[in-house]
Amino acid sequence: MKVLLLYTHPVESSFNAAVHEAALRGLRKAGHSVDDCDLYAEGFQPIVTRAERLAYHDIPENTAPVAEYVARLRAAEAMVIVSPVWNFGFPAMLKGYFDRVFLPGVSFDILDGKVRPILHNIGKLTACMTYGGNRLRAALVGDPPRKLVTRVLRVTIKPGAPVEHLAFYDINRATEPQLRAHLALVERRMAAF
Ligand SMILES: Cc1cc2nc3c(=O)[nH]c(=O)nc-3n(C[C@H](O)[C@H](O)[C@H](O)COP(=O)(O)O)c2cc1C
Repeated sequence: MKVLLLYTHPVESSFNAAVHEAALRGLRKAGHSVDDCDLYAEGFQPIVTRAERLAYHDIPENTAPVAEYVARLRAAEAMVIVSPVWNFGFPAMLKGYFDRVFLPGVSFDILDGKVRPILHNIGKLTACMTYGGNRLRAALVGDPPRKLVTRVLRVTIKPGAPVEHLAFYDINRATEPQLRAHLALVERRMAAF
């Protein structure tokens, strides 16, 4: 499969960088063709500009400022996200990717004022996300990143597509063996993706 790997972290020595490497190893082991989209390394500009907002509903001109990213998204058959949880959401970089690339005519249409998801080329989704908080703490605030993946993105992609939120909670108290075990889990899951 053609897998779009969306990776977000500013630091090369971070745990998420290691998760990214583990995901890449697993996906390549499985023989997938991976479009490794490292948003920080590529210098993605995550801010919706005034001009973009004004042209937001103008299909297809709305895609012009992010044409390369739209083409890569449309070429993908599956998506893997690797990201930390910041303020119980996606980091601004990843949020900005969705704001700027998941446009009308790309990920959804609006018919008679009703949103109709159309990103049906994405037939599988896994999000590998790490949390500082433990699972209970995340659950107490409704675990928004989990819902973004298992509810919002789930209904945006191909109906019935498998979706997994591969979360690692409580990272600040994790031991070295637990961190290593999670990297091994990510690699295994991606090798079976
Ligand atoms: C700006 C920022 C905001 C954060 N907000 C949250 C949060 O709301 N909930 C949470 O569980 N962890 C939060 N964390 C902790 C990160 O999720 C944690 O540092 C990260 O998962 C560790 O991965 P890393 O070492 O690859 O950065 C935050 C960290 C940063 C830097």
